[in-house]
Amino acid sequence: MSIRLSSGREIPIEMHKTRMVQKIQLVPIEQRLSAIAEAGYNTFLLRTKDIFLDMLTDSGVNAMSDNQFAGMLRADDAYAGSMTFYEFAEAVEEILGFKYVMNAHQGRAAEHLLAKVFIEKPGDVVPTNYHFTTTKVHIELPGAKCLEIYYDDALKTESANPFKGNMDPEKLKDTIRKYGKDRISFVRMEATTNLIGGQPFSMANLREIRRICDENSLLLVLDGSLICENAYLIGQREKGYEKKTVADIVREICGMVDLYYMSGRKNTSVRGGMICTNNKQLFDKIRPWLPVYEGFYTYGGMSMREIGAMTVGVREMVDPTVAGCSVEQIKYFVNRLLETDIPVVTPPGGLACHLDATGFLPHIPQNQYPAGALAAALYISSGVRSMERGTVSMERDKDGREVMADVELTRIALPRRVYTMSHIEYAIDRINWLYKHRSLVKGLKFVFEPPVLRFFDGRMEPLDNWGRTLVDAFKKEMGEY
Ligand code: F0G
Repeated sequence: MSIRLSSGREIPIEMHKTRMVQKIQLVPIEQRLSAIAEAGYNTFLLRTKDIFLDMLTDSGVNAMSDNQFAGMLRADDAYAGSMTFYEFAEAVEEILGFKYVMNAHQGRAAEHLLAKVFIEKPGDVVPTNYHFTTTKVHIELPGAKCLEIYYDDALKTESANPFKGNMDPEKLKDTIRKYGKDRISFVRMEATTNLIGGQPFSMANLREIRRICDENSLLLVLDGSLICENAYLIGQREKGYEKKTVADIVREICGMVDLYYMSGRKNTSVRGGMICTNNKQLFDKIRPWLPVYEGFYTYGGMSMREIGAMTVGVREMVDPTVAGCSVEQIKYFVNRLLETDIPVVTPPGGLACHLDATGFLPHIPQNQYPAGALAAALYISSGVRSMERGTVSMERDKDGREVMADVELTRIALPRRVYTMSHIEYAIDRINWLYKHRSLVKGLKFVFEPPVLRFFDGRMEPLDNWGRTLVDAFKKEMGEY
């Protein structure tokens, strides 16, 4: 939540206290330069010993609650039939409203199972409000195509549209006419569209998409990895939802979809994933594949301890102080950057503060990866680790040609209940420093490029050795830190 100070300023306020800490360190800038060079200018390949604030992601790095740890200790270890799984299923039914649930070891494992079962033939298509990297790969590996069906302004980084995650119903109808419903494996909605800035969809939009799916007998699948942030933002932004609780909104969203899956690493703050439905026939189609790829039905690739923590996490995630903790920090972060005209995605969404690398580094063409260069430059000048979400995160086409991303974003994620206001203020200060010296940052070129999901393991080099130039400028003005 946020609180208004007597000065009128609104600040995010932490509704938790720290009871266990992990020491972090800020290494001098020369060491940061060597570390990023060793990592091939790819922030994924840095080691945490060289990182000050790890804002790469909110996945698997949230702070767990005392009750989640207690849930781990209480877990009933059994290969089959563990009561911990049945307690988990009860929590899922209570919070999400689904009668049938199975675990998977993380979100992409759920995507793998769904693609395996519901993509019938090459040439099929999956319309989505926006793709996620792993989702797209799982859809496209069996030969189907992921279609982006958003409103035109979804890709405008600067916007006042509160629901840039909406799917365009007219374009969906055109897609159904063009491909025919038999070629549509399912329609996929992602709760806060990760790659375009954690932007939510509205309930009205989901209702409309549901209606179109009903008219055409199409399955509606929800990726709910960030469902609570989407629900929290609906509560803040959608007329008629001001007085509804996050729990009510989450239930209403879930009540509108045929199949639900999520990465538990985000909202439930524990490694794992799940697939849920109220349709027994759909469930029975997926379940036989679970022991093949994940594990027996009552553990699905997770440990019982993780399921114990996830049971508590499912209940806690709809608490507004949990659902809103990163949303409020992001809002503050974004608004502070706007004060100095830093190009940043607006309105603020869930998941992260997203710098618009095209606006930040307009002199770097897309084929020299401005968002990757910005992530590396931010690390060098601050020790803050962010993530490239632009062309490096795209796959080449089947002829090996580069596919330019719709937007070039550098994502500074806010893991839940991990970082404090002074951490955020520090990051804001160093982003401002970097913005003043942006002309020193140049592009990147690949020196090693894996065939798939290259952003994870790819290695790059800075053009004109700009890392050195940036370090020299920093040391002259700021010293070692
Ligand atoms: N769907 C969405 C919307 C996600 O954000 C992610 C992961 C996945 C699926 C895959 O889940 O990692 O548990 O296998 N997003 C992470 C991120 C990796 O950093 O945004 P997973």
